[in-house]
Amino acid sequence: MSEKTLPADLRNQLLRSAKKVMKNAHAPYSKFRVGAAILLSNGRIFQGCNVENASYGMTNCAERTAIFSAVAQLGPKIEIRAVAVVNDQGAPCAPCGACRQVIYEFGPDATVFFRGTNGPRQSHITELLPEGFRL
Ligand code: THU
Repeated sequence: MSEKTLPADLRNQLLRSAKKVMKNAHAPYSKFRVGAAILLSNGRIFQGCNVENASYGMTNCAERTAIFSAVAQLGPKIEIRAVAVVNDQGAPCAPCGACRQVIYEFGPDATVFFRGTNGPRQSHITELLPEGFRL
């Protein structure tokens, strides 16, 4: 796996896109709004926000909303090149385990941008999810 550096303008565009969609979050329970944007290898960007439910376990994270939206629009052959995740609290927020597995499914070489405990971070998906599951 090669850690290719995404040009700064693309990274910033992805982060801006994630911030914009964050405003659409449905997060009345946690009050923690999250936005995610994914860059595909065809250059297209898809956005997603977290969508919570009164039955808490039905919540969908921002990352999975973005990925499922891309699949719904373009079909299953998408390849994720990069993912950006932001939240409205400036809090550390790496993708959860479930989202890491879903990112890996469509982006085994993806770069993920998120806020770590010491500020902005960039990680390869296999660093976040070693031994990702494949059928
Ligand atoms: N959440 C995300 O959308 N993405 C993450 O990476 C972490 C957590 C959401 C799920 C829930 O709506 C809220 O943040 C609090 O856990």
